[in-house]
Amino acid sequence: MAKPLFSTQGLRKSFPGLLATDNVSIDVHPGQVHALIGPNGAGKSTLVNLISGLLPADEGRITLDGRELQGLSAHARVRAGLSRCFQVTSIFPGASVLDNLRLAAQSHLPGYWHPWGRRDRHAEINEHALDLAQMVGLEGRLTHTAGALPHGAQRQLDVALALAARPRLLLLDEPMAGMGQDESERVAQLIEKLRQSMAILLIEHDMHAVFRLADRISVLVYGRVMASGTPDEIRNNEQVRDVYLGSEVNA
Ligand SMILES: Nc1ncnc2c1ncn2[C@@H]1O[C@H](COP(=O)(O)OP(=O)(O)OP(=O)(O)O)[C@@H](O)[C@H]1O
Ligand SMILES: [Mg+2]
Repeated sequence: MAKPLFSTQGLRKSFPGLLATDNVSIDVHPGQVHALIGPNGAGKSTLVNLISGLLPADEGRITLDGRELQGLSAHARVRAGLSRCFQVTSIFPGASVLDNLRLAAQSHLPGYWHPWGRRDRHAEINEHALDLAQMVGLEGRLTHTAGALPHGAQRQLDVALALAARPRLLLLDEPMAGMGQDESERVAQLIEKLRQSMAILLIEHDMHAVFRLADRISVLVYGRVMASGTPDEIRNNEQVRDVYLGSEVNA
């Protein structure tokens, strides 16, 4: 197989009295949706925090397109092409959808913070903000106050904020959490669209969505990768069925 776009090698992270990430090595290939599943407390969000630089790893390597990210700040990782959404949304609730998007578009504009960089760039910022709204399906809600949007639309906005950095790898931590069927379907369609231009590491408890969207699945249990493979391999893995999937294997 071609070289992975992204990999972690031997990642390890301890909290007092708990090994939360235990020697985790995963690969994500260009254009792939790689799903990370596992029981509550298995260490999925911790792994995303290590990858995005929110938490320092104790050991291990993280590479994106051959570039070592370990030791870089969270911001530098975003600039290197790695963006994330949070399990809890990160929008500015009092601002409009458009202002949230403008702010994100502006903060990722190369050279914007340079004193001579910001002249004549309002049009560029607006255009990028509108592109982002269109990408996630919020173009009809630009003037709405972000905090007053329904839950599903807030998550769409959260994805748009992560997309502002034009990532090569997008990390999504439970993008469908707390959603009804219609909203989940909209997010699934969005992921189908995004995968055409970026790789995605998807954490999700909705097994129906995971088996529909993922090219590869890794199963995390007690901080360790118990199994990694195609959806069919994971569906037919007895250990995974015993520990996690249970009756959901028909998803
Ligand atoms: N900052 C922290 N300090 C101490 N312990 C932590 C910290 N963050 C997470 N943990 C612990 O690490 C373990 C893994 O938590 P994590 O949030 O990564 O699990 P998860 O797989 O994302 O679970 P969920 O499916 O519920 O979101 C849990 O036992 C959790 O209590
Ligand atoms: Mg989590």
